[in-house]
Amino acid sequence: MSTIKELYTKAKSLLKNYPDAAVESKVLLLKSLAISEEMFYSDPDRRVSKSKVQQFYGLVLKRQQGIPLAQVVGEKEFWSLLFKVTPGVLIPRPETELLVEKVIELSSRRKELIVDIGTGAGNIAVSLAKELPKAQILATDISPKALKTARLNASLHKVTRIAFLKGNLFSALRELRLEGQCDFIVSNPPYVQEDQWETLHDDIRLHEPKKALVSGKTGLEIIEKLVSGALKFLKQGGYLCMEMGFGQQDDVLNLFGNGWVGVDYFKDLNGIPRLITAQKSS
Ligand SMILES: C[S@@+](CC[C@H](N)C(=O)[O-])C[C@H]1O[C@@H](n2cnc3c(N)ncnc32)[C@H](O)[C@@H]1O
Repeated sequence: MSTIKELYTKAKSLLKNYPDAAVESKVLLLKSLAISEEMFYSDPDRRVSKSKVQQFYGLVLKRQQGIPLAQVVGEKEFWSLLFKVTPGVLIPRPETELLVEKVIELSSRRKELIVDIGTGAGNIAVSLAKELPKAQILATDISPKALKTARLNASLHKVTRIAFLKGNLFSALRELRLEGQCDFIVSNPPYVQEDQWETLHDDIRLHEPKKALVSGKTGLEIIEKLVSGALKFLKQGGYLCMEMGFGQQDDVLNLFGNGWVGVDYFKDLNGIPRLITAQKSS
């Protein structure tokens, strides 16, 4: 019988081509053995049953084949919450936590209507619902797969103040006649240039949905539509908070003309301008 320590050493060697082989091996072990991190460290000589060992090597093999770690284990941490991850739905990224942080900072914490466009796995909407107990949230996405996963995540986290609706950008807002009603419109939209898609890492290109990442030739097509469409649905003083890609800040800043005030951008933990916020003038 193998021990935890032996399996860990073996996985690190099998995954040696990955820069985070040690961390990934630990994550795969914790998941397949269903043990805590504490047990991993305190009981390395614990013997593991044959079936668990098989399960473990099954996961290691998937990772060796290039399937993203989050898809192998079926979950990803975001805003200190665990989100279910399914194929065909974007894996939440740590840099998107900046958007959640800013919305919380800007929120009055009174009853507010927050709309999340392109909700994906629902990570932004669910995190905001957890942090802002009086907020009403509408989460919309063009992808039925994304909405299914987002609904699952909302129910796992027991948040009921989110309505999930399928729609292309603002279409769900139009149907609900939300003109002038929104306190926040937030989005982590697709923003990769079409010709950059082929240059992305295999982990992403072969396993994540292109439609969740790519937005036309310039990468700015959806961002442009969000900026031009949001004014109609925001209240006076309401905020648009939007993630953007590396090097896009000047182009995105230039999209904000009449009707907007306080346009500002913020850097992520890697020092990359990542988030733009703007307020509808009163
Ligand atoms: C970059 S992902 C963001 C997912 C999630 N909000 C997050 O931050 O991890 C963009 C999402 O926008 C959705 N999307 C793409 N085009 C859209 C459109 N025209 N209308 C609504 N949603 C769209 C995609 O399906 C995808 O779920």
